[in-house]
Amino acid sequence: MNPLNHVAIIMDGNGRWGLKYKNSRKAGHKEGINTVEKIIKETIKNKIQYLTLFAFSTENWKRPNKEINYLFNLLETFLEKKIDDFHREEIKLKIIGTKKFSKKLNKLLNNAEKKTCNNKKLQINLALNYGSKSEILNSLKKMNKKRESVNEKNLIKYLYTKDIPDPDLLIRTGNTKRLSNFLLWQLAYSEIFFENKLWPAFNEYDYNKIIKRYKKVKRNFGNV
Ligand code: IPE
Ligand code: IPE
Ligand code: MG
Repeated sequence: MNPLNHVAIIMDGNGRWGLKYKNSRKAGHKEGINTVEKIIKETIKNKIQYLTLFAFSTENWKRPNKEINYLFNLLETFLEKKIDDFHREEIKLKIIGTKKFSKKLNKLLNNAEKKTCNNKKLQINLALNYGSKSEILNSLKKMNKKRESVNEKNLIKYLYTKDIPDPDLLIRTGNTKRLSNFLLWQLAYSEIFFENKLWPAFNEYDYNKIIKRYKKVKRNFGNV
């Protein structure tokens, strides 16, 4: 059975779920928060150390302002409500991506990271304004500036995910088979599961089914 230390998830399909069942994309984003809570609980139950959630990409700024504002308000409310619970449950929150949001949200995120930084049960990496290409480019620029030799070890140390093992398992919900600029370097050897269900409809049973299947995969890493 494969060990499972790190699960990464592209939480896709909120808008389509909202349109289908509530006639509004926003309602889908709101419902998606419930799935986030369910999956966090189940991740702890499964004793998984790292959970990386793709919440907003560098490309998502192309969306209508109204939707973007709604998403960030939702995130603010979620954090305000949940951060004490996270702390109590020994969850460490880390943001991956460039924190370029409103003053209020930046502060909230920084405080949440600071408050939970010594927690050891589960580390949640929340990918916000995250884009893998810019992460890698940034790393190359830093190596260049410091006149360091270009090698894997140096490149990795400037990624947001330094100190975090690569994901063992990537799940993308929402019936779409692409990576959308998520963790392109880190997913080199991850097992990838594409799930047809839209994120708000995804639940702990679906999650456990994928985990069970993942555990039985023969992972080669180039070997035989
Ligand atoms: C994913 O759901 C959440 C974010 C990108 C913020 P979408 O909003 O992309 O939902 P669909 O794919 O349009 O249904
Ligand atoms: C990926 O979903 C980003 C997040 C889930 C945050 P998108 O819905 O933005 O991806 P594309 O644009 O369909 O590839
Ligand atoms: Mg989408």
